[in-house]
Amino acid sequence: MKKELKIESYYTCYETIEDAPEEYKNLIAEAKQAVKGSYAPYSNFNVGAALLLNNGKIIHGSNQENASYPIGFCAERTALSAAASIAPSEKIKSITITCSCAHHPVTTPGAPCGICRQTILEAETKHQQNIEVILTGETGAIYIFKTIKDLLPLYFDGRLL
Ligand code: THU
Repeated sequence: MKKELKIESYYTCYETIEDAPEEYKNLIAEAKQAVKGSYAPYSNFNVGAALLLNNGKIIHGSNQENASYPIGFCAERTALSAAASIAPSEKIKSITITCSCAHHPVTTPGAPCGICRQTILEAETKHQQNIEVILTGETGAIYIFKTIKDLLPLYFDGRLL
């Protein structure tokens, strides 16, 4: 029997930062701070990520590029690596990601690349806790996903079927 099926995903959208609750405004401000550490002379696309740990601590990460392009790090994985090194047993409540570009204003939320989605999933698996994913551009809407699994349907979590 052949079936055509559909995958659904849910997220919350605030149309502008003014519509968002204070806690998200603060996390977005942290992610914007993180963008300042970005080193992106090749793409001119600056990304910042702010992790909120269960203990309330915030950890920043930003993209770090290299003349040998594939060596570059994304902001999300920079932040996750820092958290795993500094506070390996502390669970991660959320990751807030934002970006800006030297060439044009970013008015829609940036979305994590596939490798970063899989890396965020690994952090969920490690700590057995969902990580809220908060996405925004320089301006415009804010998207909030309760778990990375909503951005990674049919995810691979290491279990061999
Ligand atoms: N980038 C991130 O930091 N996070 C993502 O999820 C998408 C892309 C970076 C990689 C590269 O330095 C620049 O953005 C342009 O792709």
